Amino acid sequence: MTHTSTATVTGILAEIQIVPVVVLNDPAGANELADALVAGGIPCAEITFRTPAGLEALKALRGRTDLLLGAGTVLNAADVDLAADAGAKFIVSPGFGADVVTRCRERGVTAIPGVATASELQAAVAAGLRHVKFFPAEQAGGLPMLSALSGPFPEVRFMPSGGLRPDNVNAYLDHPAVFAAGGSWMVPRAAIVAGNFQEIARLCAETRSALAEHHRTNKGST
Ligand code: 3PG
Repeated sequence: MTHTSTATVTGILAEIQIVPVVVLNDPAGANELADALVAGGIPCAEITFRTPAGLEALKALRGRTDLLLGAGTVLNAADVDLAADAGAKFIVSPGFGADVVTRCRERGVTAIPGVATASELQAAVAAGLRHVKFFPAEQAGGLPMLSALSGPFPEVRFMPSGGLRPDNVNAYLDHPAVFAAGGSWMVPRAAIVAGNFQEIARLCAETRSALAEHHRTNKGST
């Protein structure tokens, strides 16, 4: 997938639609993992800072132009700096933190904080954001909750994540307020630990083709 330099980060994520949430124990396989995502047709990743290997992996992947990389589980301004210095183009947080959003703006990286309540969403909107993560999506009420949150904030676009799987992701992506969907189902930790990158490429390709099939079927029925 190629992107023009004028495309926004959220615009590129909206094109790719699926955002793998990656947890790494060891940065050694980072390039093979990235190759697998690209081969499977999902050229982006939210690499979480849940493990120290996340930052090292971002550094190892810095300079790759064939996929869009962001950092996840970014909890404070210092971590925004580490992620931005490592080349992350977007920053995802589990919740809303004004300090994180402010530092992202200062560093020129896209902030996608998590919200699960109307108060958090209102704070995100007050901070000038139009794109947020809806986390943890399934546990926080799923699509009905997303629809309800979207009501008073029609300009906001959501990236649901948390509990998304092959059998529910396409329903989320059908929602007009959803710009992309995140999750770990196509990057299982066991496969990463085993270095089974073929399996990751296969799961990505399966997700991609299920989505294409879903679009084909929906088009046919309208
Ligand atoms: C996230 O941070 O978005 C979630 O941990 C992903 O949730 P999942 O593992 O249920 O897909």
